[in-house]
Amino acid sequence: SFAEKGNHKHFMAKEMHEQPSVMAYALNNYTTPDGLKVEISGVDLDFTRYDRVTMVACGTAYLAAHVAKYWFEQVARLPVEIEVASEFRYREPPIAPRTLAVFISQSGETADTLAALRYCRDKAETILSIINVPTSTIARESDHALPIFAGVEIGVASTKAFTCQLTVLAAVTLLAARQRGEIDSDREAELLAQLGTVPGAMVDALALEPQISSICWDLSKASDILFLGRGAMYPLALEGALKLKEISYIHAEGYASGELKHGPIALIDETVPVVVMAPTDALFEKSVSNMQEVMARGGKVLLISDAEGLASASDGIWKSLRMPKVDPFVAPILYALPAQLLAYHTATTKGTDVDQPRNLAKSVTVE
Ligand code: G6P
Repeated sequence: SFAEKGNHKHFMAKEMHEQPSVMAYALNNYTTPDGLKVEISGVDLDFTRYDRVTMVACGTAYLAAHVAKYWFEQVARLPVEIEVASEFRYREPPIAPRTLAVFISQSGETADTLAALRYCRDKAETILSIINVPTSTIARESDHALPIFAGVEIGVASTKAFTCQLTVLAAVTLLAARQRGEIDSDREAELLAQLGTVPGAMVDALALEPQISSICWDLSKASDILFLGRGAMYPLALEGALKLKEISYIHAEGYASGELKHGPIALIDETVPVVVMAPTDALFEKSVSNMQEVMARGGKVLLISDAEGLASASDGIWKSLRMPKVDPFVAPILYALPAQLLAYHTATTKGTDVDQPRNLAKSVTVE
């Protein structure tokens, strides 16, 4: 009803716009009152007990795991293996001792994720879940269940659950890094402060909506769209493509920018928009050269970046979205918003059913 959606046309729109407040709330629930340290109340996690982490999930929750792999490995120096639950459960993988098994699920009821959890039950050292529904089956069957505090999510395409999953995973990364002696308390406080800047930056990113919606008029006429990203932005490219195909029914693919030459470059011509998600991090220059390879073949580049002087540096770029500047560590959380908004406005331009896309279910509780 109108009331439940507030003044939004769709639940997805309402849920995208809730992100600054739910993310701030989620972060608050995982920090000490002074905001200087990660604190997970009532949960006694000791990361010196683990040699590796296995993360299993489906859909957008799997892509949250994919981002977390970069964080855990870079910041906590802990190897992480990620896999979609439907493959994991039937492969019967050996689970090494001292493994932390992590299951990420908004609903906490996804059948494949639950089956994967049950497979790990007597094999992993600890079973940790990251869920939105604390009473769910996955939460109940875990040793520890960390709520993401996103509030009820109704739109089939997950939005605020994704950014809250990332927020909790970032906090757990910092806890692991501190316990393993990889960061000191100053660095922990600094990275938490960076996380604390994201809700405000999200407000600024949401303000790009009119600009995004005008770009989407063009995107809605494409039949294929590529998303490129490097490092922790690679999973964001996958998420941008997933969102877009789910709700606009336009074929989209996410690729690691460095793989461009190994396949997708063959698809590029003037009819294929290429969305490049490239915050100014250590890999920015490499993304720029990938972008030039696309443009040299007539591809229409949409650059999403916080780079200074985007306009002057962007000769030949089709469109650009100037993002607020944030620390590279937290960029994957912020860049989820333009990815969602592109999908949303492309879909509404086409007139598809954004909240209930054809053939998809909010929670896949059967195989
Ligand atoms: C479905 C939904 C996705 C969601 C996925 C996993 O495919 O459409 O939005 O990411 O299931 O759901 P879960 O509840 O386990 O996070």
